[in-house]
Amino acid sequence: MTPHDPIPLAKPVIGAREHELVGEVLRSGQLSLGPMVERFEHGWCERIGCRNAVATSSGTAGLHLSLLALGIGPGDEVVTSSFSFVASANAILFTGATPVFADVDIDTFNMDPARVEEAITERTRALLIVDIFGYPAEVPALLDIARRHDLAVVEDACQSIDGAYDGTKLGTHGHPAVYGFYANKQLTTAEGGVILTDDDDLAELLRSTRNQGRTDDGGWLVHSRLGYNYRLSDVHCAIGVAQLERLDAMMEGRARVASWYQARVRGIEGVAPMFEGRQTRSWFVYAPRLAEGVDRDRVIERLGERGIAAKPYLPCIHLQPFYREDHGHRRGTFPNTEMISASTIALPFFPEMTEDQVDRVCRELSSALAAERVG
Ligand SMILES: Cc1ncc(COP(=O)(O)O)c(C=O)c1O
Repeated sequence: MTPHDPIPLAKPVIGAREHELVGEVLRSGQLSLGPMVERFEHGWCERIGCRNAVATSSGTAGLHLSLLALGIGPGDEVVTSSFSFVASANAILFTGATPVFADVDIDTFNMDPARVEEAITERTRALLIVDIFGYPAEVPALLDIARRHDLAVVEDACQSIDGAYDGTKLGTHGHPAVYGFYANKQLTTAEGGVILTDDDDLAELLRSTRNQGRTDDGGWLVHSRLGYNYRLSDVHCAIGVAQLERLDAMMEGRARVASWYQARVRGIEGVAPMFEGRQTRSWFVYAPRLAEGVDRDRVIERLGERGIAAKPYLPCIHLQPFYREDHGHRRGTFPNTEMISASTIALPFFPEMTEDQVDRVCRELSSALAAERVG
């Protein structure tokens, strides 16, 4: 790589082991519903210390199935965060329920428990907790609210793979937690997800609904309930098994790159480093905030001209065109969410990024911000 090569936003780590295991599946002839799926699921149970892992075709599918399995449906309201990827709220819409947003905390970017409490009505049936940018949400406070209002809980930990709150892994708090494995995630299966739960009955139901409503004791063409094809293939799981074997190293790589960024960003005028709090972040993106008044689009454009990918990440859900048009949302309703969403910028971030590349990104960011101040 030369000093002027483009630097992408994200880049998966794929090596010989992924090729070897995918080859093993292809040679076996069993491409779906085979032993590699079980091996992948078992790997997660071991890693997290949870009783069940149910692999799904995507994180979105995992969220949808979890909400359905907890009985969420038409007429229900589910409180969630608008500072998330659109799939969090879409999964609620898929069930026929209505997402109700609660504003986020200005530091953690996760749902503020006080705002969650205010959002609860007599129709609220569940909380969909999101651990955004890999930083764990206030799980104990949110579970306390859920207990007092008799609400089901699903955790969208798609960005917080392998995350924990006060050392307790997500997926072992008594409600299902979902990870996502799209190609930019801490661990990838190209596309995919997993639902983690200690509840054996729930896991059995999820295994049925991801597989067209089939049950273990029925035949292939016996469907006991309405189900979906949300299976994850053995080919995808082969990539996942290889990735699980190297997850520690990939996580360390991300944390190392993040620490380089944090140290440099502190010295750049007009940009605030990412929040470091009591909880350990599962590093997913490096997305610091730009100061108020900075033209973020121009900064992104300037970085792009110098070969550095950057994105205005993350747009809030309630201001997405169809949430405004079909669901009546408008600007001004969730001030913290809107302010954060207008100022965060995702910079190149992947485990194999070098210190020189981080230096180059920060240098270019600094000069783009300086040019903005002048121009
Ligand atoms: C917070 C969050 N929720 C849900 C999803 C959906 O995951 P998938 O793309 O695997 O369906 C993502 C993926 O980016 C995400 O970041």
